[in-house]
Amino acid sequence: MQDSPRSPLPKAALVDAPAPRAVLFDAYGTLFDVYSVGLLAEQLFPGQGQSLGLLWRDKQIEYTRLVTTSNDGAHYQPFWDLTRAALRYACKRLGLDLTAQREGQMMNQYRHLSAFPEDREVLRALKDRGIVTGILSNGDPAMLEVAVKSAGLEELLDHVISTHAIRKFKTHPQSYALGEKACGCDASKIVFVSSNSWDALAATWYGYQTLWVNRQGLPFEELGTSPKRIGTSLRDVLDFFPH
Ligand code: LAC
Repeated sequence: MQDSPRSPLPKAALVDAPAPRAVLFDAYGTLFDVYSVGLLAEQLFPGQGQSLGLLWRDKQIEYTRLVTTSNDGAHYQPFWDLTRAALRYACKRLGLDLTAQREGQMMNQYRHLSAFPEDREVLRALKDRGIVTGILSNGDPAMLEVAVKSAGLEELLDHVISTHAIRKFKTHPQSYALGEKACGCDASKIVFVSSNSWDALAATWYGYQTLWVNRQGLPFEELGTSPKRIGTSLRDVLDFFPH
């Protein structure tokens, strides 16, 4: 049975789970708010912003899977390039006129996302507890660097890990293995936090302790596995570390 949001772990699970030493966060939608992109999309394409936002995101993730699973990665492109390709596809599909100027505006908005308001306080609380922190993202290093800097989170993150290092996107197991390598411990001692249900699911399969931050009140994936916890904000990660 799936946990309801914020439900406490069963006692047995608390006893069995090794105390986590590190927390790794997904980036887009988890630490960085993509809402502003939807707002701009609505301004540029009135009445179509929401559809464009959804289709763009779905196509972006589909492209990451396509290039990871086809021909041993021969068609790999960095996340930034796939994001642009997905935007072009989504606009064509919806019959929207994506001029060079509009494309530039949308991509620029994607590059300069704001952090969620609770990011800083949660990362600070983890650091105060001596927990190693990091990002494990499909975003390429340059994208992540700009996002982390513009959100002013540099000093609160020990690791910023991009799957670009191995040219294989999540949910390839080697991409989740990067987190273990950086933190120097087994996935079972690391909490992986994502707002993307597919990412929380695959990280659970890989062996991480997981928190799915269900900010939008969505159903979880119907594949028979639940994340360890479900929450509604990053603050819920602190439940893994009771005082
Ligand atoms: C990431 C995307 C998938 O940061 O949200 O990896």
